[in-house]
Amino acid sequence: MRVLLVGGGGREHALAWKISQSERLTKLYVAPGNAGTGEVAENVNIRATDFEGLARFAAAGAIDMLVVGPEEPLVNGIRDYFEADGRFASLMIVGPGRAGARLEGSKDFAKGFMTRHGIPTAAYLAVTRENLAEGIAFLRRQRPPHVLKADGLAAGKGVLIVEDPDEAARELVLMLDGKFGEAGRRVVIEEFLRGIELSVFALTDGEGYKILGSAKDYKRAGEGDTGLNTGGMGAVSPVPFADEAFNRKVEERVVRPTVEGLRTEGIAYKGFIFFGLMNEGGEPRVIEYNVRLGDPETEVVVPRLKGDVLSLFEAMAAGDLSLAACEEDPRFCATVMLVAGGYPGPYGRGAEITGLPDTRGELVFHAGTAREGDRVVTSGGRVIAAGARGDTLEEALRGAYEVAGKIRFEGKNYRADIGNDLKRF
Ligand code: AMP
Ligand code: GLY
Repeated sequence: MRVLLVGGGGREHALAWKISQSERLTKLYVAPGNAGTGEVAENVNIRATDFEGLARFAAAGAIDMLVVGPEEPLVNGIRDYFEADGRFASLMIVGPGRAGARLEGSKDFAKGFMTRHGIPTAAYLAVTRENLAEGIAFLRRQRPPHVLKADGLAAGKGVLIVEDPDEAARELVLMLDGKFGEAGRRVVIEEFLRGIELSVFALTDGEGYKILGSAKDYKRAGEGDTGLNTGGMGAVSPVPFADEAFNRKVEERVVRPTVEGLRTEGIAYKGFIFFGLMNEGGEPRVIEYNVRLGDPETEVVVPRLKGDVLSLFEAMAAGDLSLAACEEDPRFCATVMLVAGGYPGPYGRGAEITGLPDTRGELVFHAGTAREGDRVVTSGGRVIAAGARGDTLEEALRGAYEVAGKIRFEGKNYRADIGNDLKRF
């Protein structure tokens, strides 16, 4: 099978690494990829949102399967684009169409969907300029802190959590006035959920589903969950407090009704669903949906998947996912994100990276790297996900920090406390 994987971060390196182990694979391309994907696949210099370029390449390269990593092409309708082109009638695509991608592309749609299907989530109100007074009244009825979310995609920056109700009201107006661009012309105000966050990943063909695993990521830049939000500073899988009873509730109250809801609403969905959850004293509530895998969660979830991932994708494309085998390795995986000095603020690029272990054998996934001749250099804020497996969480974390210590580049930074909060479970 000839596969084209779209994206160029740590998630895509982990996916490429797994796909490259498939017996079904004859050729793997990654567009645009990074220095890490270049070791397990052939990179092609096409942006993830350049549908025309991707289609031209897929047609010329006789691609059998398109795997879409990031949300932006999905929300922009990459599946619809390929499906509308007769040359791709037999192309298998991993990733939902535009209608399904609204689960991530519109917070208002996602909240409405959960409400229609009785899926537990925070109380909310969608606000535009038209019902601003109602929005402010709703806000004042909620206990602080106040959660304000831009409706559309805002590159992970569209969520504000504000303690003071007057400040929240001011921020609401600023958002409606375009603080986050068009994404914020509609704002979802939410009840604040208290508990511990985790995420659960599933693959669905629109009828059946497979739960791929659970993970916890660390979004804040600073130790002890302080400082600015980032794309993720580390992750572990599985999540020790997600025991059998909790996982059963997630499956019965969240995963199954979501897949069933998509089906009853006539939304064909073939791809991943990322359930961002809050565990409130053993009860799951959905914070958000994403229509792709998470980053850096993929770097710890994908290595725990047993079996041939292309066979699983093929079964999904054929609508036979229920019949497919999908087993989790019981061992733990942990990853520590090595970031460029300054990240998530301004940071430099082009620093040479040394001490890289063989990425074929170890759980070292490149996020923001590029190849310059025979050197590998930094090319993004999040540079390398340094990971390891272990029979216990402690062992996986120890291994990840060992790998993290070996890799060197100027300005290297990382959180030293990934997974510490989970050791008590
Ligand atoms: P989202 O983009 O919806 O995942 O929100 C980003 C982050 O904000 C989440 O990962 C949570 O840490 C936090 N968050 C979002 N919504 C809520 C909520 N209703 N209650 C508490 N925290 C929230
Ligand atoms: N790590 C969170 C995300 O991928 O959205």
